[in-house]
Amino acid sequence: MNEYSEMIEKALDEFLIKDNDVKGLVDSMEYSLMAGGKRIRPKLVLEFCKACGGNPENALSFACAIEMIHTYSLIHDDLPCMDNDDMRRGRPSNHCAFGEDTALLAGDALLTLAFETALSEKAVKATSAKAVADAGRILASFAGVSGMVGGQFIDLSIEGKKVEAEILEKMYGKKTGALLKASCVLGCIAAGADDEKLKAAEEFGGKIGLVFQIIDDVLDVVSTPEVLGKPILSDEENEKTTFMSIYGEEKCRQIAKKLTDDAVKALDIFGKDESAELRELAINLLNRNK
Ligand code: IPE
Ligand code: IPE
Ligand code: MG
Ligand code: MG
Ligand code: MG
Repeated sequence: MNEYSEMIEKALDEFLIKDNDVKGLVDSMEYSLMAGGKRIRPKLVLEFCKACGGNPENALSFACAIEMIHTYSLIHDDLPCMDNDDMRRGRPSNHCAFGEDTALLAGDALLTLAFETALSEKAVKATSAKAVADAGRILASFAGVSGMVGGQFIDLSIEGKKVEAEILEKMYGKKTGALLKASCVLGCIAAGADDEKLKAAEEFGGKIGLVFQIIDDVLDVVSTPEVLGKPILSDEENEKTTFMSIYGEEKCRQIAKKLTDDAVKALDIFGKDESAELRELAINLLNRNK
């Protein structure tokens, strides 16, 4: 996967509009966007493009767009009115460094920059007008009211309440699963893949999305801020019911393992060789420590 890391960092930096009229805002956007992060979502975009026989470079606009949306979601997620966390990607959270007002706007600006990037002339040249239109629609719907933002709303609305695993699973599918699903689907779209592959990519993204949030819940309890680059025990502090609080670590890992096995099965349609890196990625997400 690391073969794409450099390509992604460079492209993100290039897509960031360095408008000197609003230097403070750009600094705040850059602070969070270029702070590292595992870049799972853009890597998924590029890997799916490759698995569908496309050139990963052609999917870079879509890959950067999804990472911008993800970064905006993290800036807002850390705000005092949401999870109130003061550390992210190994440094003070955006609002701690720039103030809540600028952090809010940096999030807004990253969201709109994502669409500017995905719908750019460069993206049209690298793919097609139809692919770019499809990508814009997918980004909007998976990031929005029925996707990530909707999931974040449900997450906040059940703070302090006991909820069933079923409700939690549905919420995870939105707050975390939606952007991971979108990443997988965008890679296929960049490669001009057929509907059957799009469907399989969405299924894979849904399963690993759930795994991703379950492991995030586990790490919130068992890891350290130094390793994670963000605070631990944030969920307990915010009285969130999580998979960890319902099932404990061992059962969480069992559930995540089963979901990963199912996710890997969904890759069959891409062919054994073509999907080798995606299988490896799914297993790494299950065993990740940060
Ligand atoms: C954290 O996402 C938020 C969740 C959806 C659980 P990541 O763990 O992918 O964060 P970065 O991008 O590596 O910082
Ligand atoms: C957030 O879930 C998912 C997002 C949409 C940002 P968390 O609130 O658990 O993410 P972390 O643990 O703060 O990264
Ligand atoms: Mg949260
Ligand atoms: Mg949080
Ligand atoms: Mg968390």
